[in-house]
Amino acid sequence: MNILVTGGAGFIGSHTIIELYRAGHTAVVVDNLSNSKPESLRRVAQILKEEGVTGDSFQGVPFHEVDIRDRKGLDRVFEQYSFDACIHFAGLKAVGESVSKPIEYYENNISGTLVLVQAMRDHGVKNIIFSSSATVYGNPEIIPITEECPKGVCTNPYGWTKSMLEQVLTDMQAADKEWNVVLLRYFNPIGAHKSGLIGENPNGIPNNLMPYVTQVAVGKRAELGVFGNDYDTPDGTGVRDYIHVVDLARGHVCALKAIERKCGLGLYNLGTGHGYSVLDVVKAFERVNGVKVPYSIKPRRPGDIATCYSDPSKAERELGWKAQYGLEDMVRDSWNWQRNNPDGF
Ligand code: NAD
Ligand code: UD1
Repeated sequence: MNILVTGGAGFIGSHTIIELYRAGHTAVVVDNLSNSKPESLRRVAQILKEEGVTGDSFQGVPFHEVDIRDRKGLDRVFEQYSFDACIHFAGLKAVGESVSKPIEYYENNISGTLVLVQAMRDHGVKNIIFSSSATVYGNPEIIPITEECPKGVCTNPYGWTKSMLEQVLTDMQAADKEWNVVLLRYFNPIGAHKSGLIGENPNGIPNNLMPYVTQVAVGKRAELGVFGNDYDTPDGTGVRDYIHVVDLARGHVCALKAIERKCGLGLYNLGTGHGYSVLDVVKAFERVNGVKVPYSIKPRRPGDIATCYSDPSKAERELGWKAQYGLEDMVRDSWNWQRNNPDGF
């Protein structure tokens, strides 16, 4: 299939493009580079050539610097290529920033997606895979979280954009059965491609645990603040379902098979089903990589929940997808990326 990948220069998009090509698909990227650099796509091409997935003459993944809110820009891309489906990663994702800039977040994520799906419909491309998040469960009623678990109250505008867009896409598919929509709820993606050439490249001070840990390990930050050790968890620190970004990327390739089967509406958790605490992650990182990660206990972060991990069995049953990598692989690959690229791309 030829896939339009919005946000393809970003962390998850760049890893997904590699898995698409490995599975025999091709991709075209649309990204406005608001949170990424074109260097990531150059490295994707390098990996594809080095792995022998493409020939040496491969010119790289076609890239268009277009904002998904720019209808004319999107039209030009749709006119130039024939697409079978879109994997839609483009969006703003910094939770804290979304609290201080809600209008920008709703505008970018919601208006952007509305412009995109209208362009898709008008160009006859009615297959979409959407990047959602476990954040839509709010404080989950059931652990491990199955897809039956009701959506909850989000604690920030970023989360609400995901929750609202799931509803928009669900209503769109209900009204027009030609659409195939797959909503993928990611748990906590970490890790990096094993080459160390691509990885997560956050702007400024990282919000998320793993990029903070790697920046402490590489000496860019003095110590990790562990946000609370009085949760009702085995060691008191927050428990999450960390998933290797390459496993997550492969989940999208499996979701394309559902689209080929004309699945209508599909909804899947992409997680490993294992919960690890903050201190589990820190200890695994230190042990596997032989580096120290100084930390101190800080107050709880507002909006955080104690425990969040998936039941990923629906994705295994229906998509034939299961995470292959464990925590040791994730901490090793995160460190390999950071230590080889201390300043990112
Ligand atoms: P990322 O910021 O690395 O990638 C997103 C890409 O979208 C960036 O390259 C950015 O430049 C681009 N973009 C943003 N707004 C755009 C616009 N209006 N037009 C065109 N391009 C635009 O983020 P990521 O971690 O790769 O996340 C990808 C998707 O997965 C996002 O939608 C994110 O919300 C979602 N998600 C991420 C996580 C996570 O922890 N990384 C968890 C759950 C869901
Ligand atoms: C956060 C977002 C969520 C988003 C997800 C993936 C919040 C409230 N939620 O989830 O919407 O979908 O990222 O991008 O921000 N931690 C520390 N110190 C740090 C950073 C994190 O102790 O410096 C802890 C947190 O308290 C948590 C765990 O590490 O227990 C994971 O945090 P993080 O990586 O930010 O992910 P989530 O909170 O699960």
